[in-house]
Amino acid sequence: MIRLVKGFHDILPEDTAKWAFIIQTARSTLERFGFREIVPPIMERTELFERGIGQVTDIVEKEMYTFEDRGGESLSLRPEATAGIMRAVVEHSLLRSDPLLKLYTIGPMFRRERPSKGRFRQFFQINAEVLGDDSPYTDAETIAAAYAIMADIGASGLVMEINSVGCRECRSEYRGLLTKYLEHYIDELCTDCRRRYHTNPLRVLDCKAPRCSEIALEAPLIVENLDDSCREHFKRVQETLDLLEIPFRLEPRLVRGLDYYTRTAFEIIHDELGRSKALGGGGRYDTLLSELGGDDVSGIGFAIGIERLSMGIPDDDRRFSRFLDAYFAILGEAPLKTGLEVVNRLRCHGFSVETRYSPMTLKAQMKLADKLGARKVLMFGDEELACGEITVRDMANKEQTKVKIGNIVNYLQGEKT
Ligand code: HAM
Repeated sequence: MIRLVKGFHDILPEDTAKWAFIIQTARSTLERFGFREIVPPIMERTELFERGIGQVTDIVEKEMYTFEDRGGESLSLRPEATAGIMRAVVEHSLLRSDPLLKLYTIGPMFRRERPSKGRFRQFFQINAEVLGDDSPYTDAETIAAAYAIMADIGASGLVMEINSVGCRECRSEYRGLLTKYLEHYIDELCTDCRRRYHTNPLRVLDCKAPRCSEIALEAPLIVENLDDSCREHFKRVQETLDLLEIPFRLEPRLVRGLDYYTRTAFEIIHDELGRSKALGGGGRYDTLLSELGGDDVSGIGFAIGIERLSMGIPDDDRRFSRFLDAYFAILGEAPLKTGLEVVNRLRCHGFSVETRYSPMTLKAQMKLADKLGARKVLMFGDEELACGEITVRDMANKEQTKVKIGNIVNYLQGEKT
């Protein structure tokens, strides 16, 4: 037997109803907020991610599925969607016709992380981006969209954490302060952080190694070192979130794992999964588009992981439980042909109907109808065939009536309304 690739997973038929519910809900929430769908490919040139996400991030350094194709070009499966969307925006000049562009995409991402509960090597994201406006109201509105998806899906136990990571200017000053502080502890940092100290010291703040997190506790904070305009921007974001009644918590040590963020950064955390496995995350990126060859236009966006989100929703939630309008019980050889014709007619009129051709007792078929969540069972045996009728049993109140074959569509339509 050939098994699944480690860290990949099948979404089995019993899970797809919940899966589809999450996607449909997110889609309708995002469309209400004015987002339109874009579907970029799952593979791009490696260089796009190196330039977009940053060479010295864990994602690019350690986690990408990168390979040389037969033409000798380096390609990578996308570890996230933002860089690919930016490429498409630049390549198709989408901002020309739509200077405020709101785009979303839903699909699989690939990161070769160590698999564990809620952490996969292929996972799905609901990803949204707003381009063309750098006002704090847009930040708040985007966070509100992420919050609305969660609310519409009915996920509970969530906390929205926000921070500002400043602009390039205030960050470079802050970086000086931070490295000066970390210098005293360099020998105590983990191997990764000793490297990060030189390449990307902000990531030390986010390290989960016990000694590194202790050291991070006393480190200077970026929010306390913002320049005037970043401070004002962040203040407005918070005021607007209050106005929109979006609950949030300030998290001054929140540093995102991708390098393109400027100013507002946020994550959606679940009580049980904890900070290392956020349900969603995002932030503002004011230079990404221009770094990828586009105009000097700023953006903000977020992504929510569908696997992590689905863990918080009960499997038997009635909002996506499957049901059938009717189970059609064919009882015997003779009624088979007419039975098939009726089943097909009902399906063509919009009813979900199941049946079985191989002989089964009525008892076994009733059990099956129950398992399939049928609202009605239509019984059709020799007697019914002779009278041109169908015995209809309502599975909720157990009442039975006889309906003429020619009236069955009308009858079921009437029962539906
Ligand atoms: P991210 O924080 O790397 O952000 O990922 C967003 C979400 O994807 C996470 O919060 C998590 O739910 C899910 N996720 C990430 N890695 C895994 C994994 N290995 N297994 C399962 N789920 C995972 C981004 O990807 C940014 N592109 C978001 C963004 C859009 N920022 C601006 N625009």
